[in-house]
Amino acid sequence: MIIVCPQCARKHKVNPGTIKSYAESGKKNVLATCRSCKFKFPVILDTLLNPDEVQGDPKTETASIKKPARKICITLSKGGVGKTTTSVNLAAGLALAGNKVLLVDTDTQGQSSYILGLRPNAGLTELLTKELPAEECLVEARKNLSLLSGGKSLAGVKRIIDRKSFGAEWTLSEALNPLDRQFDYILIDTSPGWDQLIVNVLFYATEVLVPVALEVMPLHGLSEFIKSLGAIQKYRQEIELKYILPTFLDSRIKGPQNLYDQLEKLYPQYLCQPIRYNDCLSEAPSFGKTIFEFAPGSNVSEDYRELVRKVSGDQSALV
Ligand SMILES: Nc1ncnc2c1ncn2[C@@H]1O[C@H](COP(=O)(O)OP(=O)(O)O)[C@@H](O)[C@H]1O
Ligand SMILES: [Mg+2]
Repeated sequence: MIIVCPQCARKHKVNPGTIKSYAESGKKNVLATCRSCKFKFPVILDTLLNPDEVQGDPKTETASIKKPARKICITLSKGGVGKTTTSVNLAAGLALAGNKVLLVDTDTQGQSSYILGLRPNAGLTELLTKELPAEECLVEARKNLSLLSGGKSLAGVKRIIDRKSFGAEWTLSEALNPLDRQFDYILIDTSPGWDQLIVNVLFYATEVLVPVALEVMPLHGLSEFIKSLGAIQKYRQEIELKYILPTFLDSRIKGPQNLYDQLEKLYPQYLCQPIRYNDCLSEAPSFGKTIFEFAPGSNVSEDYRELVRKVSGDQSALV
């Protein structure tokens, strides 16, 4: 009989006789401790004894039924296209819809914590350098939403990654893999440009969401990015482009609509409903609020709710 640790995914053999004797003594569940990462988690005895009969809630954190998180990175080499705004609000929306979400900020600007009104003492740097255990690096930002914050200190981490003689591209995966089964979604915000940390993100995530600002001429940047992603896919087949999200849609002027039409022609399979231009999105961060808290009735709040439905595949989410 096998028990899988929901934190580090290590498999442990257990004696079926011991499990049966617990069940016969009237116990419904027991607390297990992972021999590898020391994580304590409940084991439902019925689940182990009758695995086929279990109709549990998929979100229940039990040993044998918790699925690994979906790992979605929000990225494009160009700055100012809505990566951070989308990462924070999509993460907050998925959390509001009842999912357990981790937002990982891999940008040295550390904007995510600012938008969420937080000043964490530790974050991704301390996790990557192993200075602190994971539970001390994560901050509970909102109900169901944890944050691994970014910031200036990540610049030092990039240098450490650069100096590694092999396996450098897996540094982030090694640090984040133990967290996999604690969450339904792990969203990763990236900095503009192309560096070792972004390569690390693309070796960790399995899905890519690319925001494309309809304000500026973005299609060249998008096709360049798709080329770079193709280069990564040669070494890591699991990563795929899933969503192209048009942002800054201003229907009062023609340009954005023309660009949207081009996107629709070129990439119909990835295209999401656009996020409209709305000043609320640039005002909310100075209040430390997500769009759902700052302007819940606004049109962009509805746009981000629609994105939550698209990504989660749950048409009843946040309606
Ligand atoms: N749909 C939108 N309408 C108006 N302003 C927006 C919108 N999306 C983002 N912004 C603002 O534009 C700026 C750049 O967005 P940001 O998410 O930081 O981009 P990136 O992370 O790609 O650099 C921020 O000030 C943000 O508040
Ligand atoms: Mg950003």
